Amino acid sequence: AVHTQIFPLLFTLSETCSVSDIEIENGFFSESFRTYPLNRETSYRCKQGYVTNTGEASGSITCLQNGWSPQPLCIKSCDMPVFENSVTKNNSTWFKLNDKLDYECLVGYENEYKHTKGSITCTYYGWSDTPSCYERECSVPTLDPKLVVSPRKGKYRVGDLLEFSCRSGHRVGPDSVQCYHFGWSPSFPICKGQVASCAQPPEIPNGEINGTKRLEYSHGEVVEYDCKPRFLLKGPNKIQCVDGKWTTLPVCVEEERTCGDIPELEHGSAKFSVPPYHHGDSVEFTCTETFTMIGLGSVSCLSGKWTQLPKCVATDQLEKCRVLKSTDIEAIKPKRNEFKHNSIMYYKCRDKQDYERSICINGKWDPEPNCTRKTSCPPPPQIPNTRVIETTVKYLDGEKLSVLCQDNYLTQDSEEMVCKDGRWQSLPRCIEKIPCSQPPTIEHGSIKLPRTSEERRDSIESSSHEHGTTFSYVCDDGFRIPEENGVTCYMGKWSTPPRCVGLPCGPPPSIPRGTVSLELESYQHGEEVTYHCSTGFGIDGPAFIKCEGGKWSDPPKCIKTDCDFLPTIENAIIAGKNKKSYRTGEQVTFKCQSPYQMNGSDTVTCVNSRWIGQPVCKDNSCVDPPHVPNANIVTRTKDKYLPGDRVRYECNKPLELFGQVEVMCENGIWTEKPKCRGRASFFLMFL
Ligand SMILES: *[C@@H]1O[C@H](CO)[C@@H](O)[C@H](O)[C@H]1NC(C)=O
Ligand SMILES: *[C@@H]1O[C@H](CO)[C@@H](O)[C@H](O)[C@H]1NC(C)=O
Ligand SMILES: *[C@@H]1O[C@H](CO)[C@@H](O)[C@H](O)[C@H]1NC(C)=O
Ligand SMILES: *[C@@H]1O[C@H](CO)[C@@H](O)[C@H](O)[C@H]1NC(C)=O
Repeated sequence: AVHTQIFPLLFTLSETCSVSDIEIENGFFSESFRTYPLNRETSYRCKQGYVTNTGEASGSITCLQNGWSPQPLCIKSCDMPVFENSVTKNNSTWFKLNDKLDYECLVGYENEYKHTKGSITCTYYGWSDTPSCYERECSVPTLDPKLVVSPRKGKYRVGDLLEFSCRSGHRVGPDSVQCYHFGWSPSFPICKGQVASCAQPPEIPNGEINGTKRLEYSHGEVVEYDCKPRFLLKGPNKIQCVDGKWTTLPVCVEEERTCGDIPELEHGSAKFSVPPYHHGDSVEFTCTETFTMIGLGSVSCLSGKWTQLPKCVATDQLEKCRVLKSTDIEAIKPKRNEFKHNSIMYYKCRDKQDYERSICINGKWDPEPNCTRKTSCPPPPQIPNTRVIETTVKYLDGEKLSVLCQDNYLTQDSEEMVCKDGRWQSLPRCIEKIPCSQPPTIEHGSIKLPRTSEERRDSIESSSHEHGTTFSYVCDDGFRIPEENGVTCYMGKWSTPPRCVGLPCGPPPSIPRGTVSLELESYQHGEEVTYHCSTGFGIDGPAFIKCEGGKWSDPPKCIKTDCDFLPTIENAIIAGKNKKSYRTGEQVTFKCQSPYQMNGSDTVTCVNSRWIGQPVCKDNSCVDPPHVPNANIVTRTKDKYLPGDRVRYECNKPLELFGQVEVMCENGIWTEKPKCRGRASFFLMFL
């Protein structure tokens, strides 16, 4: 490199930069030149796994007088890793050294530390860990040796079932459990030598026991509850006596949803009843004379929906049922190939003792003959964040169970789980309720304060409002809310607030000497009208007014703008013709009467009925011409001299006039006077 040395001992300014002047840590120059001229830019690249401070793979530096600038930088980085059965909420594309990345496992999965959430760190050697999650497994803990579990396996996957029996004594607890993503549920039973019996099952509000009550129930007995009409059963509808205690009771909650009109039935009719139809209400249907009802004649309103409607089929067209040819069925009674509608068939399955019963309904067997045992599910699980269900009662295929979430939790999607193919499926999820921030503010309105306003004002202004909180709005005077007047907090978001709509206005106010652009009977909120004034008058204030909330804004005034009388200017007369009235903007010129002279502007202007401008006529005459020694005035003398009048002098002989010959009256004063002098004095001046 060639260096120009200015102050060799202090510092060096160079005209070129060399690649050897700088070392790029974890990076390299992109081009292969050795030196660069001043102000030349070049680029550098970072090694794999490193980025510039802006997250790019390459950056640029410039050769300046005192070296390369800026300092090239390659910092350790991590890319977004590959997620296995997990997700992240972070949407960055790259991470710096020591940055943390949080991830969450999919439902039913967990990471190797048995957690559903994890966090990994970008280290010098890459990510500290992989964000991988593995399918949840259930394992069998060490158990009471009296308890037998089956099947015995090394690991159990989500959905696997485990059955229990006791080698001796009685089982206290469920006879089977299921492996869920949250582990086995319900909890395992124990084996006990002696078990207690139970007293009468408890009463529940708005519900009752299906069947007659007894005084005592033995271990294992099951009782079923029903809710009163309009109430919906939540939790297990069956309870069991387990070693002297009843399992978790259901609750009956009021169902507010009502059903719509009773559906129409072709060839049939419903018994007359009047709306509203509440949960649990039912209507009876009948078919017309020559038709037969297929299905249930009683249709119920359940949670706002009518149950399945029956069908009316022409009686002479009812179909017959044929006997199923199944290898599982050993015998049928009576022995026939075809059965008429409503006739009963008994069948015996292979390896079974008893006959099953089925009835022919319009060509279909009810129930469908089936030799596979109707499966049942283990007692329902305790789903995370739901109210406690401790039950040991098994449910049959097709049965459903509604759950209630804990306070501050909310069911997502469905509230019911279903027993299907021997397993509980479509489990509801209870998610935490999200509070809302302050409710939205609206134009021309505010939140209605509850009666005890002082303490509640704080609650409105507080920054957090529970899910489900509702506020109503009231409008300012002249405004009203056409529809719904409230907002509700739903999972962190307020519903759309209402709008306060302005009431219409009547005709605009009339003003003296003014008219409006368009006169109507009624105007919408926000509409404007413009005023005009009759000739000679002008608008004072904004010309238009606006209808706002049933009221017009203040109208302008029409004020006189013509000038009627001319101002009196002393010692002046108007130059031109006098008029009766002058328009705003018109000008009038004045002249001064002699010996007065105009001082300043000679015009006045009419502006909104007032004259602007003040011409002044000043007396500019002169008296007594100045006395000049040894001289006499030769012009005729007067008492008063007008501006421009001149006075001439003559010196006494042999003196002569020097300087001015005469004086003039100008602006009320005389111009400079002359002097008289002799010849000698003329010469003397130069001595
Ligand atoms: C990243 O996510 C945040 C919050 O979810 C969002 O506001 C932002 O627009 C996202 N950025 C990109 C690049 O997707
Ligand atoms: C993503 O991770 C980075 C580094 O830990 C962090 O600074 C950033 O706030 C995260 N972004 C989001 C949307 O969580
Ligand atoms: C008990 O419930 C079953 C099934 O819901 C029903 O068929 C039966 O009629 C009920 N018994 C009483 C007494 O309510
Ligand atoms: C009998 O019931 C089982 C279990 O409910 C079902 O999987 C099977 O399909 C049924 N068989 C017939 C012939 O309906």
